[in-house]
Amino acid sequence: MSGGGLDTNLAFAMARVAERAAIASEGMVGRGDEKAADQAAVDAMRTALNEIRMKGRIVIGEGERDEAPMLYIGEEVGTGEGPEIDIALDPLEGTTLTAKAMANALAVLAVSTRNGLLHAPDVYMDKIAVGSGYPAGVVDIDAKPGDNAERLARAKGVAVREITACVLDRPRHADIIADLRRVGCRILLITDGDVAGVINTTDPETGVDLYVGQGGAPEGVLAAAALKCVGGQMQGRLVFRNDAERTRAERVGVTDFNRRYDLHELASGETIFCATGVTKGGLLDGVRRSGGKVHTHTLVMSSFDGMVRSIRTSSPVGG
Ligand code: FBP
Repeated sequence: MSGGGLDTNLAFAMARVAERAAIASEGMVGRGDEKAADQAAVDAMRTALNEIRMKGRIVIGEGERDEAPMLYIGEEVGTGEGPEIDIALDPLEGTTLTAKAMANALAVLAVSTRNGLLHAPDVYMDKIAVGSGYPAGVVDIDAKPGDNAERLARAKGVAVREITACVLDRPRHADIIADLRRVGCRILLITDGDVAGVINTTDPETGVDLYVGQGGAPEGVLAAAALKCVGGQMQGRLVFRNDAERTRAERVGVTDFNRRYDLHELASGETIFCATGVTKGGLLDGVRRSGGKVHTHTLVMSSFDGMVRSIRTSSPVGG
């Protein structure tokens, strides 16, 4: 099955890209060096992307051209033949998690048809997300977090005490946390990794019903690309702390600084989303080595056919 140049073969090729980035960064797990861990993932992801038959263009990457030598925004990747593909990536989502050998570090990328992903600048984004099966608009980014938890509880048919919200553990979230405590829902505080935090809302096994809070805007688009495949709801709004950040946004085409983006605006085209676990987490197992093989666990989702694949791969070390 295919959708505008995206097809199952491309989904598997992208899964391999995420696997290779995860395997490369695994060597840096627990070594206290965030930069080196990220660099290993970047190098591997770039090499792998350049082997794919496509006219690929990075729309969310490691930064702007003058600050990122590789996988910068606008860099062209792939063989230069084949479908025109836009790519959003975070070769290592959770550099601190990796450096400290903590759970939930991922290698992540999403691809879409041309202009199918919001060209989000590297600023913060306010985000709210829920999984599938709820009426449209069940939560509202402009409502109080506690009120959103209550609305979600009513829609789910449970007491608000049974709702679990996932929030990044940051001082800036003190008000959000206080308001969620006001209504008595549970809060899963995470130290990093809000792409996984958002995706957790789509997987009943994680127990997470609601994601709320402020994290990276690029990570917001990556998470939206994933939700687009499995049918959750998400809203986001860019957050600017100074004029330099506004200028950065203007450079990627943002004109309305207060705009509220819904899921279909964050990820408007067909998407493929891939994530491979670097360290073991709630969503995915991490990279493991045994018996001369390296074992990976990858989530591959595609919006054009609604497929969700959980792929475990064993490959020869160095293969
Ligand atoms: P890194 O991969 O750069 O370490 O980012 C991890 C992350 O936790 C993201 O998941 C999240 O969106 C962002 O950092 C939050 O930013 P901050 O640490 O500044 O609150």
